Amino acid sequence: MLEKIVRTAEFLNTKGIKDPEAGIILGTGLGGLTTEIDIQVEIPYQEIPDFPVSTVQGHEGKLIFGDFGGKKVIAMKGRFHYYEGYGSEQVTFPIRVMKELGIRALFLSNAAGGVNPSFRIGDIMLLEDHICLVDNPLIGRNDDRIGPRFPDMSVPYDKQLIEKAEAIAADLGIPVRKGVYLSTTGPTFETPAEYRFFRIIGADAVGMSTVPEVITARHMNVPVFAVSIITDLGVDGKIEYTTHESVQQAAEHSEEKMTRIMKELISSM
Ligand code: HPA
Repeated sequence: MLEKIVRTAEFLNTKGIKDPEAGIILGTGLGGLTTEIDIQVEIPYQEIPDFPVSTVQGHEGKLIFGDFGGKKVIAMKGRFHYYEGYGSEQVTFPIRVMKELGIRALFLSNAAGGVNPSFRIGDIMLLEDHICLVDNPLIGRNDDRIGPRFPDMSVPYDKQLIEKAEAIAADLGIPVRKGVYLSTTGPTFETPAEYRFFRIIGADAVGMSTVPEVITARHMNVPVFAVSIITDLGVDGKIEYTTHESVQQAAEHSEEKMTRIMKELISSM
């Protein structure tokens, strides 16, 4: 595994991707942040050795390197999910490669259903914690050169980055929420009973991504910041027919605000 990671990182080095300070992973309908990157290198996933290929509409499948907020960043436009049939090694591989390239922090976005009854569609939620209801991506043999067998998870999301993001959002006049993200495999959205259950066990939002990537980053001691855009509501009386398109549309609506926060936050690193 480590050999494969190093080989892919070296390949990206030869393509001009060198010393990124931050890694960025963009969720459904949230790829527009890349238009704010002063792009130096852009590579489709299928041209990268050992990289999986993204199969979901709204996830383009490109690795982008350039300046964002005055920092060198590497951004994944399109991520990999369990529901596509990928195993944990494939879902987590890009994060391992980003760390090998030198990122100092990982920034993620996703589209999520809100189960907190005070949430509204379009809300921006900073992740404070998560509940992992998918296979832990670290199941299997551990490579001690990469990270410990039993990683600590007492601080999954970096407190300083959350505080800074809150201050930035306040300055920009953008209201934000904070909460707990729960990950399912998908691809189904939830039944009303499932949404109710997730609320009871402590979730504020539910989605199909992010947690495996966060666990992988924390395994390597990379600080993490993550944001959910609430695209639909899993709250009794407010549940509506949900489609991938309605999720994309709602995400795109809040994308600009999320991008402004991310840009300032990365700039302040
Ligand atoms: N459930 C799961 N994943 C999601 C949802 C949801 O309601 N909305 C966007 N992604």
